Amino acid sequence: MSKNVIMPSLFGADISELKKEVTPLRGLGIDILHVDMMDGSFVPNIAFGPSQVADLKRSLPFMFDVHMMVENPDKFIPDLVKAGVEFISVHQEATPHLLKSIQLIKALGAKAGVVLNPGTPINTLEVVIDEVDYVLIMTVNPGVGGQQLYTPIYKKIAALKKMIGSRSVAIQVDGGVNVKNSRKCQEAGANWFVVGSFMFSGDPQANLQALNHSLK
Ligand code: DX5
Ligand code: ZN
Repeated sequence: MSKNVIMPSLFGADISELKKEVTPLRGLGIDILHVDMMDGSFVPNIAFGPSQVADLKRSLPFMFDVHMMVENPDKFIPDLVKAGVEFISVHQEATPHLLKSIQLIKALGAKAGVVLNPGTPINTLEVVIDEVDYVLIMTVNPGVGGQQLYTPIYKKIAALKKMIGSRSVAIQVDGGVNVKNSRKCQEAGANWFVVGSFMFSGDPQANLQALNHSLK
């Protein structure tokens, strides 16, 4: 899982123009869209419930990576898998039953990720690191698009990379990722890049090209 993967975040797109903005990216090497679920409780915002995810999945020709910013994530996981979602991540901070959530995602046939808020240390992953397909390191406090990446996070990404060692676990970053900092995230160890506002401000195709150039 060392290949660079750029995942546009639908939360950063204009929802009224979604199909138009997103579909052309399919021909430009984008295979996976990042979709944020927010419950207004774990995070202050609200976005994309399971039935909207199912509708989007039917109409957009991509794999989906659903980032669950919700309490009690297990409640929604079966519906997401039924909708055809391929990648699902749960916040360590949102459930007292992290292992159970990971096992549920995998038992239903999707890839499982764990998300850590910027203030959560990585040692909380020690027990589950062998169970996950990816770790999402939040590079901003979650729930709002368009924020600045928290630069002390590079050290945390590098420490996670060390913890992962030779395991096949991807490191995903999400929040404020743009053409100026993507390379630094990569040098620290990240290989999956979620990009919201940078991708969708101006010309998404040109932004994607610039991002590709910024990465080794
Ligand atoms: C924020 C979400 C992100 C968001 C990223 O909490 O998890 O996926 O869409 O948007 P930008 O890239 O604008 O920070
Ligand atoms: Zn996200």
